[in-house]
Order: sequence, then structure tokens, then C-alpha cells
Amino acid sequence: MPQTPAPTGADHRRGPFRVGDRVQITDEKRRINTLTLQTGGQFHSHVGVLDHDVLIGADEGSVVENNEGVRYQALRPLLKDFVLSMPRGAAVVYPKDAGQILTMGDIYPGARVVEAGVGSGALTISLLRAVGDGGSVHSFERRQEFADVATGNVATMFGAVPPAWKLSIGDFQEQVLNEKEPSSVDRVVLDMLAPWECLDAVATVLAPGGVWVNYIATVTQLSRVVEAIRADGRFTEPDSFESMVRGWHVDGLAVRPDHRMVAHTGFLMTTRRLSDGAVGIPKARRVKETEFAPEDVSAWTADHDEAAWGHENLGERGLSPKKLRKAGREALKTARAGGAEVEALVVETTAQSAAEKGGEEE
Ligand SMILES: C[S@@+](CC[C@H](N)C(=O)[O-])C[C@H]1O[C@@H](n2cnc3c(N)ncnc32)[C@H](O)[C@@H]1O
Repeated sequence: MPQTPAPTGADHRRGPFRVGDRVQITDEKRRINTLTLQTGGQFHSHVGVLDHDVLIGADEGSVVENNEGVRYQALRPLLKDFVLSMPRGAAVVYPKDAGQILTMGDIYPGARVVEAGVGSGALTISLLRAVGDGGSVHSFERRQEFADVATGNVATMFGAVPPAWKLSIGDFQEQVLNEKEPSSVDRVVLDMLAPWECLDAVATVLAPGGVWVNYIATVTQLSRVVEAIRADGRFTEPDSFESMVRGWHVDGLAVRPDHRMVAHTGFLMTTRRLSDGAVGIPKARRVKETEFAPEDVSAWTADHDEAAWGHENLGERGLSPKKLRKAGREALKTARAGGAEVEALVVETTAQSAAEKGGEEE
């Protein structure tokens, strides 16, 4: 039977469940599973079988039963659910930080945003939501394998690749200068190992008054990028902070913070582009004992030793190329199963990885 293509845009998330929709089902023990609905599809678990056909055509928020009478509450995943369950190649920006980036970075409907690196596309999804159809997000990513993961995830989330999104492969600091006019960008958001390498490029493309947000994993990286921005002089004094969100257990009289939380994810830093020729107002420093010499900063930030700034030294987990290609295949497969057209953005690495797949044990 011919199937009606899944709607895209906001309609993608409205109305009864359709073939190709992602649906999050939660059982009585609050176990969560995510399904992509297929005609005749089945969800098997140790407590029985749930036919996808029971869900297709049902309203969002329905409670359905499997063949053993086990009940499931069915909802479309929210953005926060999706980004934490989607295939990933690199660490994603958590929803708690994405919310801060949108607010403190002042990402507004219609804004012209550039972003790097794209990684798995988690932050890209939030940025696209915030700029809306009238804005643009231009993402730069140095590795095609990550770009494939992000393309699949973005297409799955929106039901198609949104027209407001452009993805370019290459090093941000070079590629953005080839593709963007000077002062043509309202907001820059960087999530990468060495954002200080992008200082000149950001200063060139960001319009006066524009906001630059850095998402940074470690204290040493934060220190280095802040000192580099201060020394450069084309930006306002950077603001640095982190976000911590603690869940609460609320049950009758037992009301207390959760025992566990995601404590550290990353640091956030914002600064704004001054107008050309303006001399910035440096931060006033009061206490004599905290004075430091440029050599102190240099020793701390190790700017004399580029080799020190590797993933291993910063405590980041390396990712095998095989695992990364697998995440890309998974992300694109899910996007295609939902009816999203992704071929235009997927280039040879994917084809190559598909050819390699036969020989790989995963
Ligand atoms: C931690 S991931 C980004 C995760 C992403 N923000 C998300 O939420 O899914 C860092 C990415 O930056 C990319 N990258 C690092 N330096 C880059 C540069 N100079 N230009 C472009 N991409 C870069 C890496 O390849 C990697 O994919």
C-alpha cells in the first residue's frame, strides 16, 4: 500500500501517530524505549509484544497494551529526549547547557548563526529551533564522519533537513572566511578543542555587537581562550560560568534533592564584538596578590606547546573510527526510515563506510 510521506516542519510533531514517527513508550516501571513506527512492526521485550499498528493512528499521549496486557504510555520524544538518545559520535551539548547557550548567547528568531564543530548535531538542533525559518544556522565541521551523524540526527528531528541549515566541511577558522562576508554574522557558537585558534575568523565574520559563545570542557581550555580574547582587544571582557541542574524527588513528605546528578558537563563563556577601532575597557583588578605575569599565563595555558593540547591530555575519550562510522549509519538509517531526504548532504565517506561494513565486526 503506498504510504503518505511524513509531514515536515512543525506538522511533523502534531496529530495522531503516523508511520515513520518516533514514539517514546514508557511502561509502569518507567522503563523508556523509543520506536520508529512501521506498518506491521513489533516491539519485543521480556514482557511481551507490542504491535506498532496499535499505535499508528492513535493520539499522542495514548496508553496502549501489549499482547500480555502490559500498559505503555506513548508520546513523541521532546528535543531533550531525542538528543540524549540519538546516535552520537562525540560528546553532545546537554539540554541544560543548550538552554543556557540560547539564552546567554541571545539566539533569537531570524538570527544569522554560525556554529562549529557540529559533532552529533545536538546543539545544532536547538539553534535551528531558536532561529526559526526566518534565520539561518551555518555549521562547520572538520570531519565528514561527524557531519553524517549530525545530518541524520537533524533530519530525523525535523522530519527533513531544514532549509535554514547549511553544513560545510572544513576547519572553521579557514572555511568560515571563504563562505561568510565580514561582519555578516549575528552569533557565533563554538564547541571544539581549541577555540582560540578561531579568534581572527570570529572577529572577522561577527558583526559589531554580535555575541560569541564558547562551550568548553576543561578549566585549562577556558583559561586559554579567555586570556587570548582579552589579549586580542576586539571583544568585551568575557563572562564565564557553568550550569548545574539538580532534580528533586517529590513524594508525599519525602521531598529532597535527587541523590545523583550530572555535575560537570562544560563551561560556558560569552563575549561581544566591539566596533572596529574601539578600545575595550579591561576588567578592573583590585587585589595585588592575584597579579600574574604574562609568563604565568603562558605556562598555565601551555601556548608554547601545541602538542600538549590533544584529546588525551584534556581527558577526552578517543572514539574509534569504526564506532563513529556506525553512529553515522545508524543516524542516517533512522532519518531515512522516517522518510527524510538526506542524500544531498551525505558524501562519499558514508558510501565508503557502507562498502566497508561487510568486513567490520561491530
Ligand atoms: C564535542 S564535538 C561538538 C558536539 C556538538 N556541539 C553537539 O552538541 O553534538 C566537537 C566537534 O568539533 C569538531 N572540530 C574541532 N575543531 C574544529 C575546527 N577547528 N573546525 C571545525 N570543526 C572542528 C570535531 O571534529 C568535533 O566533531
